Amino acid sequence: MKDKLIIFDTTLRDGEQSPGASMTRDEKIRIATALERMKVDVIEAGFPAASQGDFESVQAVANAIKDSTVCGLARALNKDIDRAGEALKGAESSRIHTFIATSPIHMQMKLQMQPEQVIEYAVNAVKRARQYTDNVEFSPEDAGRSEEDFLCRILEAVIDAGATTLNIPDTVGYSMPHQFGATIANLIERIPNSDKAIFSVHCHNDLGLAVANSLSAVLNGARQIECTINGLGERAGNASLEEVVMAVRTRQDMFPCVTGLDTTEIVTCSKLVSTITGFPVQPNKAIVGANAFAHESGIHQDGVLKSRETYEIMKAEDVGWSANRMVLGKHSGRNAFKTRMNELGVQFAGEADLNDAFFRFKQLADKKHDIFDEDLQALMSEVSVDADDEKVKLIALQVCSETGETPRAEVTIRVGDEEMTGTSSGGGAVDAALKAIESLVNTESTLVLYSVNNITSGTDAQGEVTVRLDKAGRIVNGLGADTDIVIASAKAYISAVNKLQSADARQHPQKGEV
Ligand code: KIV
Ligand code: ZN
Repeated sequence: MKDKLIIFDTTLRDGEQSPGASMTRDEKIRIATALERMKVDVIEAGFPAASQGDFESVQAVANAIKDSTVCGLARALNKDIDRAGEALKGAESSRIHTFIATSPIHMQMKLQMQPEQVIEYAVNAVKRARQYTDNVEFSPEDAGRSEEDFLCRILEAVIDAGATTLNIPDTVGYSMPHQFGATIANLIERIPNSDKAIFSVHCHNDLGLAVANSLSAVLNGARQIECTINGLGERAGNASLEEVVMAVRTRQDMFPCVTGLDTTEIVTCSKLVSTITGFPVQPNKAIVGANAFAHESGIHQDGVLKSRETYEIMKAEDVGWSANRMVLGKHSGRNAFKTRMNELGVQFAGEADLNDAFFRFKQLADKKHDIFDEDLQALMSEVSVDADDEKVKLIALQVCSETGETPRAEVTIRVGDEEMTGTSSGGGAVDAALKAIESLVNTESTLVLYSVNNITSGTDAQGEVTVRLDKAGRIVNGLGADTDIVIASAKAYISAVNKLQSADARQHPQKGEV
């Protein structure tokens, strides 16, 4: 029997710390549900003490998730631990993850604390967290640049205080794989009570080594990896979940452990996270990039046709790539639609939600002959805006774009019960349309991102537009999909406006109160 490798996903916490990757509470629940379906062991849902919005998101995820453990992050401070404990109350299985920095530079410059004091804070935090749950994780932040002797002392003390998982973060992505692996082996060997806790790693990708460092740690005794979908995270990101999981699975000849993940959910999860955050996946990204299983060269194609293993080390279906097929069309009924949506992990809150989604599906099917899973996912990104939060609605859009003429747009929206029309010119049809909307809604926000991607191939494919607005530190992503990209852009802008106005909108964690 091989050991279990625990997969701890921090897309909703560290992933959300990517500049601009902010998620609403509902979006966090959708991602958490997809992670749960993939059988991720632990979902770090956020940092409850960071803001009221973060607290409520962690609480909502804790209430929604049944099969995975839900975790909340807390500094080694009583008020943080209490907030995390409170937010996690409704969870079937909860974990508090507390941390304090241990590297000389962080202790001296950031914390301005003596090492003994840092140990005291860590021990107190773990003891306090144990009052809420018996599943407590401790991280010595910046462990990658901490002194090994000091790590041994603090980790021994927190195990005695009740920590059940010791997470070793390479916070600034400074470690090299052989060195990081050796550190894990040394800690396990040198700490007298190390057998009472699971060793975990949390690697950042500043030198592109997050996955390599995580795997080296596993070969040296770590039994939990902290990672994110698509490698999202602070700066260059975290170790990517899909890469570590598929490396361990593909190289079972090397690894003494297995994950319990359903890898066929990987691609769906990756697309969901990319859609919600507005961070596209590069085509050559391992496992989840559009080209990850595409063979272009004639020699490779010939080899694969003769024997798949000549150039493929994994099966595309094993990570969920088989989903790219026509699933529904113009004549599909409500039941077929609902069934496929459920298979994609979408549960409708009630008949009204289902009817609304089905209506939008029929509208799309009138314009586009073949409907793929990706189209359905995009449809749900629009529908998922809570009806109560959809204060602004697009009613009509007309654009005039001619060679040699300045493009103009006329937009009609409904705000509450009032219908209003605005016009604007712009550098292009999209610019004119978005300016016309802004002239009506006056958000006073800054557009920090506009991106358009084709959801499937062909000129009748839907364009999926992401618009990111920043209003005094509140960052929201709006999504819109349509076979007409000007309409998709208007939908995306209006979706962002609705999020800005919703009670759910909150400070991006990087600009939060902590
Ligand atoms: O990178 C880091 O050190 C962290 C800790 C909070 C684990 O994210
Ligand atoms: Zn981190």
